[in-house]
Amino acid sequence: MSDATKKTTDTEPDDHTGSGNAPLPTPEAQPAVIHVSQPGVASSNQATNESGLTGRFKSVLNQPNDSTQKTLLVTVIMCLLCSVIVSAAAVLLRPTQTANAALDRKRNIVQVAGLLKDEGSVEVAFKDVESRIVNLDTGEYTDQFNGVEYDQYAAASDPNLSIALDKKDDIAGIGRRAQFAEVYLIGGSENFKQIVLPVHGLGLWSTLYGFVSLDQDLTTITGLKFYNHAETPGLGGEVDNPIWQDKWKGKLAFDDTGNVKIEVVKGTVVPGNQNAAWQVDGLAGATLTSRGVSQLLRFWLDEQGFGSFLKNLKQREAS
Ligand SMILES: Cc1cc2nc3c(=O)[nH]c(=O)nc-3n(C[C@H](O)[C@H](O)[C@H](O)COP(=O)(O)O)c2cc1C
Repeated sequence: MSDATKKTTDTEPDDHTGSGNAPLPTPEAQPAVIHVSQPGVASSNQATNESGLTGRFKSVLNQPNDSTQKTLLVTVIMCLLCSVIVSAAAVLLRPTQTANAALDRKRNIVQVAGLLKDEGSVEVAFKDVESRIVNLDTGEYTDQFNGVEYDQYAAASDPNLSIALDKKDDIAGIGRRAQFAEVYLIGGSENFKQIVLPVHGLGLWSTLYGFVSLDQDLTTITGLKFYNHAETPGLGGEVDNPIWQDKWKGKLAFDDTGNVKIEVVKGTVVPGNQNAAWQVDGLAGATLTSRGVSQLLRFWLDEQGFGSFLKNLKQREAS
């Protein structure tokens, strides 16, 4: 062996050049491996040792994009994310929705009473309105609830706050009637100029929800408006037609003896007939919706509905 060769062998014990001349190191001779952990970089040992949900999660994420497991995982993550966004939006928007629903109710009330001219401010028009809760059985006001927290239609499905109606009495087809209802007195309860009453009943396809307003004589109708129904547009849906709504203004709800007499006739009201003051034209091709409107008004204006309350008011007016 030459001197040059000897020198190389002595000073370079590990030959990784692939020359094949250097002997493989024995296990004892191997230098100790020192793991230096860097922040944010997991060592391969850590990754393999990672157990539980996080480890499985990472291993699935490391799979190719078209693997079934990764596809399912990403789908689940997207579903969770979307449901969180939808739930958050529902919670955050609830106060706005409640405020809008209250404003919409006010708009319907001032519209049926003819107080909202040219889409002016609803709140301004509503300033003149006092709302009270009435016990329909006694016909008296009650302070048991306030209008904000009391919902007549929710109460109608609560056995403690409503009564089941006999079939023969249920001419409006509503099944149950709440014991209390909110009424709206235009100009205040002491000196009202009009009174707005909530009414509802079955049409052909749906329950129609609306308001009827009466003049201070408690007999002359000043307006009728439905704000919720699912009758057929162009047929029963014509209850929303302003021309038909206008036909109610000035009609009489009760006869001279105090019985409910208002009705929607089939066809058109014959001018000059002796009952014309209590009759409104029927909706063309929508006899069943028309009959439903007659029946629901008869129900709510009579003793099953606001009859006792209206009688009390009339007596108070007379005295
Ligand atoms: C698709 C369709 C929708 C209808 N929608 C209503 C409706 O909303 N209200 C209604 O009273 N009649 C509606 N009708 C008509 C009634 O079925 C019924 O014929 C109509 O009330 C006239 O009744 P009459 O023949 O006793 O006058 C609808 C009919 C059809 C075919």
